[in-house]
Amino acid sequence: MQKEDYKFSFEVYESIDELTEPDALLLSEARKVTQHAYAPYSHFRVGAIAQLDNGESVSGSNQENASFPLGLCAERVMLASAASLFPKVPIKTIAISYDNENGDSTHPISPCGICRQNLLEYETKLKQPMRIILGGLQGKVYIIERAALLLPLSFSADELNT
Ligand code: THU
Repeated sequence: MQKEDYKFSFEVYESIDELTEPDALLLSEARKVTQHAYAPYSHFRVGAIAQLDNGESVSGSNQENASFPLGLCAERVMLASAASLFPKVPIKTIAISYDNENGDSTHPISPCGICRQNLLEYETKLKQPMRIILGGLQGKVYIIERAALLLPLSFSADELNT
């Protein structure tokens, strides 16, 4: 038996004020996009925005439903929009924020497992690392260099041999 290590590094900033101007702008856009969420059940509004290689940006917010499992996370709404509007354009950077109507929004949240799988395949498909900026409406900000870092030992299309 041998043990393998997975090393995961990411950047931690005290607040949005420490970010570069383009990163700060993208995070403030993600904060605004939280207001487009349809979240009458969880009251947890998530906003995601992608900055594309062609200079365009595409946003998404969580969209819930009275039939709870139908709900879509902000990240997947954003990726589906980007793929529909600009199918071949890689995403440079994504910013994700949230507004928790039941509590604080003072620390970063991380994409859920399903979204990590989607983010990873998007990154792989367009062959370019997607930087991910995570931050609440206030507080610390994390920057992760590529989506693949969020999903070690991932399942991929390589296994399907299609
Ligand atoms: N949600 C997202 O939009 N993204 C995540 O990464 C985690 C959770 C949404 C789904 C649901 O509408 C609400 O947040 C509470 O889970």
